[in-house]
Amino acid sequence: MQIVSTIDELRRVRRDWLRAGERVAFVPTMGNLHAGHLKLVREARARAPRVVVSIFVNPLQFGAGEDFAAYPHTPEQDEARLREAGVDLLFLPSEAEIYPHGREGGTFVEVPGLSDILCGASRPGHFRGVATVVAKLFNMVQPELALFGEKDYQQLSILRLMARDLNIPLELIGVPTEREADGLAMSSRNGYLTPEERAIAPALYQVLRDVDAELTGGGRDLATIETAAATRLQAAGLRPDYLTIRRAADLQLPQAGERRLVVLAAAYLGRARLIDNLLITLD
Ligand code: PAJ
Repeated sequence: MQIVSTIDELRRVRRDWLRAGERVAFVPTMGNLHAGHLKLVREARARAPRVVVSIFVNPLQFGAGEDFAAYPHTPEQDEARLREAGVDLLFLPSEAEIYPHGREGGTFVEVPGLSDILCGASRPGHFRGVATVVAKLFNMVQPELALFGEKDYQQLSILRLMARDLNIPLELIGVPTEREADGLAMSSRNGYLTPEERAIAPALYQVLRDVDAELTGGGRDLATIETAAATRLQAAGLRPDYLTIRRAADLQLPQAGERRLVVLAAAYLGRARLIDNLLITLD
């Protein structure tokens, strides 16, 4: 595995692969890698002869008072895991390499509408930071494929729109959420949980499963299902930010008869803000 930290070095390697006709699959991350990230890498490995992973904790997507400074760094462990997973190139840029004109000094990418609802409503500017860094990384790596987790369903939806609207020539692939044995979606932020909170955390997924059961069982009063589910989260000891049933295709409110739905939730638990979602197909 080659490790590079500058765009120049990255481009040199990329050019050689282009000359050899080798396709590149790209997995952008913020590090502190867990089995969810490694699932994306495995999918990438299966789909292209060359795999690039980036690790960059992107300051632009953290709000004031969020956990940018505390975000977990585990560089040696990450490197060993990526090596073992057969990654060809690890891109580890500095902040100056990505934002040479400062955090506020350059061009931003905005995907309006979808960036302002759900997590975007509680985290203003978050998705602008995500779209901006991912667009820049796409231009640096120039991959044929890029893989993202369904765990961050809104992020995935926004990046699909961005790639479409900016005519970025790549295929964007969503990978199903990797979970702990008790159902908790794997996340770098799970490390913030105390043992007591960790025991409560699986309630988030359980409640999403309950919503799935109610909908597939014929329940159609979405507002009542949502309110009851949020109450269950609260009773379990979580502090719900939102819990909502949306159209899977575009995260808008479902029309009657809509078959492809997604239930999404965000909830605070101690220092952590947990998110999860579940795709639901009705017959
Ligand atoms: P990060 O949280 O490190 O996640 C990197 C990728 O791993 C994202 O596509 C995310 O959806 C995916 N992922 C995280 N947990 C997962 C799980 N349990 N199962 C499957 N996939 C999972 O998301 C980001 O970083 C950043 O916003 C980034 C896209 C890198 C831009 O800075």
